[in-house]
Amino acid sequence: MKKINQLYEGKAKKVFTTEDKDVLIVSYKDSATAFNGEKKGIIAGKGEINNRMSNYLFQVLEKKGVPTHYVKELSGRETAVKRVEIVPLEVIVRNIAAGSFSKRLGIAEGTVLAEPTIEFSYKNDALGDPFINDSYAKALGLATEQEIETIKKYAFKVNEVLKSMFLNANLKLIDFKIEFGRFHGDIILADEISPDTCRLWDVNTNEKLDKDRFRRDLGNVEEAYQEVFRRIFGKK
Ligand code: TMP
Ligand code: ASP
Repeated sequence: MKKINQLYEGKAKKVFTTEDKDVLIVSYKDSATAFNGEKKGIIAGKGEINNRMSNYLFQVLEKKGVPTHYVKELSGRETAVKRVEIVPLEVIVRNIAAGSFSKRLGIAEGTVLAEPTIEFSYKNDALGDPFINDSYAKALGLATEQEIETIKKYAFKVNEVLKSMFLNANLKLIDFKIEFGRFHGDIILADEISPDTCRLWDVNTNEKLDKDRFRRDLGNVEEAYQEVFRRIFGKK
């Protein structure tokens, strides 16, 4: 499998076409952004950690019945994935209050929710990914009712699988963001799952081991990514 043309460069990944029209190659970068690109930096080694971790998690999820775009890991930073049409929704599942949820609702970070909850943002950088609901998503033609039902079902399944897997690695899954795509008419999990897209806290100390260390200038950013990687792969 070889890269042919660069299709797109995003904030954390580059995407290339291949000789197979149904397959793309993603190449993970060390660049990091926050607050819709306002804050920029480099997290050394992040590309390789996110690539390997995301690929491992996607394979675990496939076995548990969640279809994903994963095809094959090609190198430390590069992976072949199914070429999907991305559904322009950021799908966020939360177990414990944090981040924008805490801010919007005035609930202390760390408050355990009575049950996992789901929300959608419209993927649109120019608008800063605004919060929307199912009705907006349908009215704007972003997804059909059936697609939204499938997305919700898979998102909660991803939560159950990852929550217990991370717990085995002594990590609490606070919340995460996932994205889905359409592949030959089916909804499948796409993009990535990594410390860029999850909040992960140490079970005993509640130490933050995710991108909030970068967003909030907490220091030891690289070390946090490495620690998550060690814990996941140490337990594999
Ligand atoms: P939030 O509390 O800032 O809304 O973030 C919820 C989760 O989504 C958190 O795990 C971080 C992740 N996230 C992304 O992956 N990309 C984003 O652009 C944002 C804002 C959050
Ligand atoms: N989507 C944010 C950005 O664009 C990244 C984040 O906060 O995770 O910079």
